[in-house]
Amino acid sequence: MNYNKKSIEDIDVKGKKVLLRCDFNVPLKAGKITSDKRIVAALPTIQYLLKNGAAVIACSHMGKPKGEWKPELSLKVVAERLGELLGQEVIMAADVVGDDAKAKAAALQPGQIMLLENTRYMKGETKNDPELSKDLASMADLFVNDAFGSAHRAHSSTAGVADYLPAVCGYLIEKEISIMGKALSDPARPFVAILGGAKVSDKLNVINNLLEKVDTLIIGGGMAYTFLAAKGYGIGKSLLDGEKLDYCKDMMKKAEEKGVKLLLPIDTVGADHFPDPIDSEIAVETFSVEAHPDNMIGMDIGKETCKLYADAVRSAKTVVWNGPMGIFENPVLSAGTIAVAQALADSEAITIVGGGDSAAACEQLGFADKITHISTGGGASLEFLEGLELPGIACLEDK
Ligand code: 3PG
Repeated sequence: MNYNKKSIEDIDVKGKKVLLRCDFNVPLKAGKITSDKRIVAALPTIQYLLKNGAAVIACSHMGKPKGEWKPELSLKVVAERLGELLGQEVIMAADVVGDDAKAKAAALQPGQIMLLENTRYMKGETKNDPELSKDLASMADLFVNDAFGSAHRAHSSTAGVADYLPAVCGYLIEKEISIMGKALSDPARPFVAILGGAKVSDKLNVINNLLEKVDTLIIGGGMAYTFLAAKGYGIGKSLLDGEKLDYCKDMMKKAEEKGVKLLLPIDTVGADHFPDPIDSEIAVETFSVEAHPDNMIGMDIGKETCKLYADAVRSAKTVVWNGPMGIFENPVLSAGTIAVAQALADSEAITIVGGGDSAAACEQLGFADKITHISTGGGASLEFLEGLELPGIACLEDK
């Protein structure tokens, strides 16, 4: 994929109406925003546009209303929070491309910002319907995409609209692609990737693609047990992706052929039943992978593995991490994930955390400012690591 895309600084935005796609798909509980991280991440682009004389028509999806007008997924709460953060009114449209949105967009002045309703209220959004894309485009002179978290979706507001307007990226997408793109295309070496998470099948292409690029690939989390089983170890009652045993064998062979060091756990923390995630009373044991008891479910990496993985991180110049090493929500099964987060925080290397659970872990542990880059995308950063072309980025103008 070409990561060299035009950004807001490469075009003249003065006096222009800018359709700005953000990822305002923020977590909500009882109608309240529980983390405004994604709104905060969009501020630099919005502030630049407003300061430089653009009128900003912001838009985003929220949840998966599937073309239905679900009031609980309205972006009104986002408009309020965004207004507080910007210190100015965010004009809320009552619809997406209806009369209210169009009238408000037509009246919008340079330095003002409005927000359209949830783009997924429109049936055409997730189908990348050209009629909807055209309708969205009709309100603006330029399209700026800053929704990295949604860049893996080929939807009307993330990609389709670029067929009808000049299209560039905002600061957030620019940052995501410059740091992650560089790590994947021209990394400082040694380059170490750490992958965790429950299932091998969720990371098939990521493992395959990273083996082409890294010096060391570290596997942890639930998916490590399928690799261990493929190596011939007993894994007791641990999670086994039975259909992926051959795949794991192929990947281990590929690593050997490419001279990539593939690190698997050498010890495991397990219990005889699966806990409610927050059952911190559960009795756990640590054992070597060579002596995994038949009745035990492995649920975290052990201390020796933590040391092994931290040593690999210590000698790296670039580290990419995606996926927890154990059940991070449970205090007795979180040590592996904490050890990896700590190793990244202590490292002098370029450290990149690819969204989702590992990003949440770094933030909860207070390590966020010690990591070079924490991606705002979950699915998007995973597809990026797979080497896939992200439609929301591919549609933007090349430099
Ligand atoms: C996310 O939360 O990962 C993005 O906003 C994309 O959301 P989606 O998976 O509903 O497309």
